[in-house]
Amino acid sequence: MKELHERLLADLAAASTSEEVEAVRVRYLGRKGLITSLAKGTDFSRMTPDERREFGKQLNELKSLAEQELARAAEAAKTKAAALTAAARGTLDMTLPGIEPSVGCLHPITLVQMELEDIFQRMGFMVLTGYEVETEYYNFDALNVPADHPAREMQDTYWLANGLLMRTHTSANQVRALEEYGAPLRAIFPGRCFRYEAVDASHENTFYQLEGLLVEEDISVAHLIGVMKALLGQVFHGEVAVRLRPGFFPFVEPGFELDLNCLLCGGAGCETCKGTGWIELIPCGLVHPKVLQYGRIDTSRYSGFAFGLGLTRLAMMKFGISDIRWMNSGDIRFLSQFPAAV
Ligand code: FA5
Repeated sequence: MKELHERLLADLAAASTSEEVEAVRVRYLGRKGLITSLAKGTDFSRMTPDERREFGKQLNELKSLAEQELARAAEAAKTKAAALTAAARGTLDMTLPGIEPSVGCLHPITLVQMELEDIFQRMGFMVLTGYEVETEYYNFDALNVPADHPAREMQDTYWLANGLLMRTHTSANQVRALEEYGAPLRAIFPGRCFRYEAVDASHENTFYQLEGLLVEEDISVAHLIGVMKALLGQVFHGEVAVRLRPGFFPFVEPGFELDLNCLLCGGAGCETCKGTGWIELIPCGLVHPKVLQYGRIDTSRYSGFAFGLGLTRLAMMKFGISDIRWMNSGDIRFLSQFPAAV
């Protein structure tokens, strides 16, 4: 009986239409069906009264189980057929049970990028993207980082055989945008960057930045701080603790490092913030006049600020991800934890 039941289940699993389910019913419960005729093929004379009683009981149980399973399969086949008919007609039958869609989900970096684009667009910034493969000129020289400048060594670069490079930062977009759009200009440039890095909990060789550039008349550090605070307040839905300290980048003067109080450990110190309690998040500063000149901007009239936000790290802070290596892991168990939108 157990074997017969297993065969019935296998046959039902293979049956998808109502006709196929009916054929299974006839095969097992029809007049000459395998279950129905089980009693006929059994020699009761060799059984004790107790064994006969037990046999009868089990057979009845098998029959009612088989009836339930067949009814369920018949219902499922009917629902499926109705859905297919409705789909073929192009109509939607609201009485059908819902089928959970399997549409995938957005990557945490994409979610944060979309949120930031939204915030900046509301502040009047254009969203531009630029190139992942760049020229040495836009990635370094036009940013006031000549070939022999030690700052080049801060960004270990993947060079391509043809002399181009994988952009080490989204700042490579700055002079391209100035050349194309001139001043006044408000633009952000989200994108993927590449560095020949020793990978650890907070460093990847492939990561995302979001560059910002604003060039208008009379721009000062106060404007920069105001925009950064507005940004972080919206991203983290309230006040967050930040600190500003001097930072050196040849393409800004003065330059700063804006650090975010580590949201994973509350500033106590953890692996992600390397025990300091602070995450280096937004290097920024006032655009160096030389960069404006490379972009053919009249420096007697215009000034501006720029920042290069670590988008990957911001996503880590926002979602409490303690190791950056999850981001490029492609692990579906990790990816499926994020909301469809923020
Ligand atoms: C720059 O890349 C400058 N271009 C930023 C800038 C722009 C300064 C405009 C001034 C004006 P830095 O090398 O510090 O700076 O990188 C910026 C941010 O990118 C870092 O704060 C960090 O959040 C992120 N980042 C840098 N390297 C990595 C890495 N290997 N893995 C993950 N994130 C990284």
